[in-house]
Amino acid sequence: VNHQTARKPVIGGNWKMNTTLQEAVDLAVALKLRLTDIQDVEVIVCPPFTNLHAVDQTLAGSDLELGAQDVFWEKKGAYTGEISADMLRSVGVKTVIVGHSERRHILGESSEAVNKKGRAALDGGLRIILAVGETGDERATGMTETVLDQQLRESLNGFTEEDFASVIVAYEPVWAIGTGLTATPDQAQVAHEFIRNWLGSEFALEVAASTVIQYGGSVTSANAVELLGQPDVDGALVGGASLKPDEFAGIVQAQQLVLGGPARAL
Ligand code: PGA
Repeated sequence: VNHQTARKPVIGGNWKMNTTLQEAVDLAVALKLRLTDIQDVEVIVCPPFTNLHAVDQTLAGSDLELGAQDVFWEKKGAYTGEISADMLRSVGVKTVIVGHSERRHILGESSEAVNKKGRAALDGGLRIILAVGETGDERATGMTETVLDQQLRESLNGFTEEDFASVIVAYEPVWAIGTGLTATPDQAQVAHEFIRNWLGSEFALEVAASTVIQYGGSVTSANAVELLGQPDVDGALVGGASLKPDEFAGIVQAQQLVLGGPARAL
């Protein structure tokens, strides 16, 4: 528990390619009603680009923050289909996910691209959630730490100790994303500890101690307490369950329980 006292846990909801405008507003309203007076946990929702402005307006005055799912590295110009850090900030976004495995594996995004996106996001005044994680094959062949090392090294290339004030890392084993399989609490803890030690040896002990490391991969209200209770797990990045208001609120409540706070009536 002492490991966690310096870090405020962050629960993120990654809505992925879900929600029309009306569905997004309805979901934001439902979350806002369920998640009031959140002090010990940070809660961020990441709707699709098309719904950011409306969700920002819906969440005004609530404890929920706005995030986005991706960002492009250039500031502006002829980049059809892309969205800049300035554009995101102009609609109220504070935090952006970079390197999500669906972008790495479905859209072919390299760690070099992730690195450029992360740099541009920080330079543009955003905080990043950098997602890393091994595939099932990589885990089965004992490559997990090699893959994490490589993804972290390439994605954080050129970053400074100071940059980590605006960096959250999300450990998301690819085999656990959207599959209903989760890492066991032990598997999660081992990977998180590896990442934290890596930050300590590659950057600074202070960086290791202060950086929030979220777990992602089929987190639900039913498995959240065990996962979030691990000493190096500082929150969760939630996909499927973030679209269900009671589930997502239940995960935030689980985080509060783990922190030893009062169980909150929802
Ligand atoms: P999931 O997605 O919770 O649906 O597994 C997690 C993520 O991709 O961040």
